[in-house]
Amino acid sequence: MCGIAGYIGKKDAKNFLLNALKKLEYRGYDSAGIVILSEKKDLNCAKSVGKIKDLEKKISKIDLSGKSGIAHTRWATHGSPTEINAHPHHDCQKEIFVAHNGIIENYKSLRADLEKLGHKFISETDTEVISHLVESNFKGNIEEAVLNSLKQMKGAYAIAVISKHDPDKIVVAKKSSPLVIGVGVGENFIASDASAIIGYTDKIIYLDDDELGIITSNNYKIISTISENNIEKKQCKLELEEYEIQKGGHKYFLFKEIFEGPEVVKNSVRGRIVSEAGLVKLGGLEVLDQQRLRKINRIIIIACGTANYAGKVGEYMIEEYAGIPVEVEIASEFRYRKPIIDSQTAVIAISQSGETADTLASIQEAKRKGALVLGIVNTVGSTIARETDAGIYNHAGSEISVASTKAFISQIIVLALLTVYLGRTREMSLVTGKRLTDEIKKLPKLMKKILNSCSEIEKLAKKYSAYRNFFFLGRKYNYPIACEGALKLKEIANTIHAEGYAGGEMKHGPIAMIDENFPCFFIAPRDSVYEKMWSNMEEVKARGGQIIAITTEGNKEIENLADDVIYIPKTLEMLTPILTAVPLHLFAAYMGIELGLDIDQPRNLAKSVTVE
Ligand code: F6R
Repeated sequence: MCGIAGYIGKKDAKNFLLNALKKLEYRGYDSAGIVILSEKKDLNCAKSVGKIKDLEKKISKIDLSGKSGIAHTRWATHGSPTEINAHPHHDCQKEIFVAHNGIIENYKSLRADLEKLGHKFISETDTEVISHLVESNFKGNIEEAVLNSLKQMKGAYAIAVISKHDPDKIVVAKKSSPLVIGVGVGENFIASDASAIIGYTDKIIYLDDDELGIITSNNYKIISTISENNIEKKQCKLELEEYEIQKGGHKYFLFKEIFEGPEVVKNSVRGRIVSEAGLVKLGGLEVLDQQRLRKINRIIIIACGTANYAGKVGEYMIEEYAGIPVEVEIASEFRYRKPIIDSQTAVIAISQSGETADTLASIQEAKRKGALVLGIVNTVGSTIARETDAGIYNHAGSEISVASTKAFISQIIVLALLTVYLGRTREMSLVTGKRLTDEIKKLPKLMKKILNSCSEIEKLAKKYSAYRNFFFLGRKYNYPIACEGALKLKEIANTIHAEGYAGGEMKHGPIAMIDENFPCFFIAPRDSVYEKMWSNMEEVKARGGQIIAITTEGNKEIENLADDVIYIPKTLEMLTPILTAVPLHLFAAYMGIELGLDIDQPRNLAKSVTVE
């Protein structure tokens, strides 16, 4: 989603700002802008619709030198993606510029009030209100003006403000949208995402909600926007390495990340399995009162999109092997319901980015109701990681491609580990614990086998690239994988329509659509529901539908029914989703390539969804 960058120091600000915007590209955006304070104290701004390289082209024709500035990538929410709507936005005199992530909920009434006072607006955005509000509150000191403006604003924001009249500082503030300060020597950096600062400094300060930062080239000061008192903030060490966000020999991040799967599984598992005891150690949960953890008698998993499908796999695992009832909720629904929660309920939030607004709001609601709130989060130090009582990091490394693949795999692995962890403190025997952990350890090798036959999937994508509708069907552990396969295809090959269904639901409606133009993926490993899937395949075949089956190696009979077969190695039923997801991720990626689409940044999507 939108990205913010800021620089103040002794060097040319433009270089850092453009670099930072490029590193934030993965979040998804549709326009970008930059404003720089010149030596003469003029604020010079350039904006462009499209990619950062379009902005760069524009900038190359104008003088944008200066030692401080702010920049932004916008993902349109209020108003279409145009130059006028792109950030940074300015006040009437073009003396105060603002970059903003989030949504100002009361912007309409604020705008009406400001217009009555004579302020002239040029964009359709909620953000422009902030620059005019700061202008109306400005009495010579920019942080005071920002502070007073924040008191009038409702909603979610991370903002960076630069002003011509108070030129030696950049003011930032945060509420429900991430913002970090990178501390350098004689220079300081601002970004909505720590990855933008990699290579410039490894000293990071994570701003918390209701905090305002005043950043100069040699210093920074953080105050509470509520009490207005100074706050001492701890500097954290930025652990992300530059190489983690490079493409590693692949043309697209998406392929790099799919092919990283086996390594990701190893990293998520490393140091967490005690083989001889069939146990799992989860360091992140050790801080918890173990008595309370043992008494948990209900789990609610909250997550969005792909993370929600991983949660659904977790539901089946935990119920079957740990014997604890689990419900999986879409975070955007959970936050507005009246969920029944008590102190014996554990709410587990799953999030790759750790910044998803709906998931964050849900955990805050669950905390208010007294639940034990745990996180399965990939991004270290993210807001959700910090807001939960305890958690398990995925250790999947930065995920850059907008569509989530390796994080999905690692979310399921972490849920499998959690299943053993919870199960072994309840009824699960040593033998079962050992069987599960032994099989988990074999997965990287099995995944590699599937990845090595990627050319087969590529051929399938070529064969089916002219079709515009697909069903994905699965049962039990592979029902969520059917939904995931359809979601990935919709996202990455976005001119194709795809739906995921539980196999048993076909006859309740969707089967009406089947004809020879409607290929169906059947995720049918040799498991406890294989025979049921076979019946579903027969039903589709009888109606002229084409079948692409994913099944277990050695299952030759399926070739009599299916038009195409993808084989996965044998593993435990509970772990099949990790293997069946791989060819589906590959298929979506190859289809995107066939259709000539930008597979790393599909249209209309954002990596980190920090607005409702
Ligand atoms: C799909 C995808 C999204 C995310 C969802 C949650 O490929 O990436 O559906 O899974 O927006 O994001 P996180 O996991 O960051 O909370």
